[in-house]
Amino acid sequence: MADRLSQVAGHLNYPRGLLAGQVAIITGSGQGIGAEAARLFANEGAKVVISDVDAGKAQEVAKSINSAGGSAIAIPGDLLNDSYIEELVKKAAEFGNGKLHIIVNNAGFTWDGVLHKTTNKQWDTILALHCGAPFKLIRAAAPYFRVKDGEPRNIINISSTSGLHGNAGQANYAVAKAGITGLTKTIAKEWGPAFGVRANTIAFGYILTRLTQAKEEGAFVTTPDGTKVALGIPGAQQAARGKGAQGEQHVDIPLRRPGTATEAASSILAVASPLFGYVTGQTISVTGGRNI
Ligand SMILES: NC(=O)c1ccc[n+]([C@@H]2O[C@H](COP(=O)([O-])OP(=O)(O)OC[C@H]3O[C@@H](n4cnc5c(N)ncnc54)[C@H](O)[C@@H]3O)[C@@H](O)[C@H]2O)c1
Repeated sequence: MADRLSQVAGHLNYPRGLLAGQVAIITGSGQGIGAEAARLFANEGAKVVISDVDAGKAQEVAKSINSAGGSAIAIPGDLLNDSYIEELVKKAAEFGNGKLHIIVNNAGFTWDGVLHKTTNKQWDTILALHCGAPFKLIRAAAPYFRVKDGEPRNIINISSTSGLHGNAGQANYAVAKAGITGLTKTIAKEWGPAFGVRANTIAFGYILTRLTQAKEEGAFVTTPDGTKVALGIPGAQQAARGKGAQGEQHVDIPLRRPGTATEAASSILAVASPLFGYVTGQTISVTGGRNI
């Protein structure tokens, strides 16, 4: 994919890649869609900041990009911690020699519950992570985006079909992922006119990552107060997902399969690239056609 885009880029006179010379913060890039986006961005000439609560994984991704000839730095930390957000922007700008061009707000996990059983903590944590943290990160990075140096500036917020259509058992996540679309459009309107900042939302459908693997795999995250939150989807629910009358799978998806992390990340690269230079304020569904 990156090779094909590089060829296109060649025709457009971006010989060193679609994102040559740009500095990008990608949150949640220790694994999954974020890690793939980091690799694709680096392939296209971006200097990439790997931000993740899992320090070991963040270091690994940065190391693999650097050893492949790209440029990356790991700045690990928890986005639920305000002081980390300040530190992230400060260190990222140092890494970028005083410039930041792209923020991808991708980090996240789900903490599901039916509406009448969802606790305040479940609600507050998921809104803080999927809406509060992106807002605080963008606000902290404002001095690097509200500039007129003729270079591109891009903000991409990651949403979900749950935010666009609702999803039983995900009241907190659905509200947060709907909210981020409003933040995106507001940035497009506030920072587009004077500074040319583009802001878009990408809403994913079913992508194969830790977030959607069977809960029985035992993955979990720990919130700042030490609460362990199990990750994934109960196996039975996963197996029943999109099953047709004859037992065929994914009948709710026109392409009849989930997406890969690389496919999801490729759409982030596309939106960040100059090929999308006149697209802003949009919510782009990357779903294999689900929900059309
Ligand atoms: N996988 C899907 O089907 C799907 C569908 C719709 C939307 N999304 C969204 O895509 C984004 C990426 O998810 P993924 O599927 O790659 O999941 P993932 O679990 O593989 O990766 C998420 C990353 O975010 C990091 N993270 C979580 N909480 C954090 C915190 N407090 N501070 C810093 N980092 C934190 C995790 O450590 C992890 O590396 C998320 O915003 C998710 O909601 C995913």
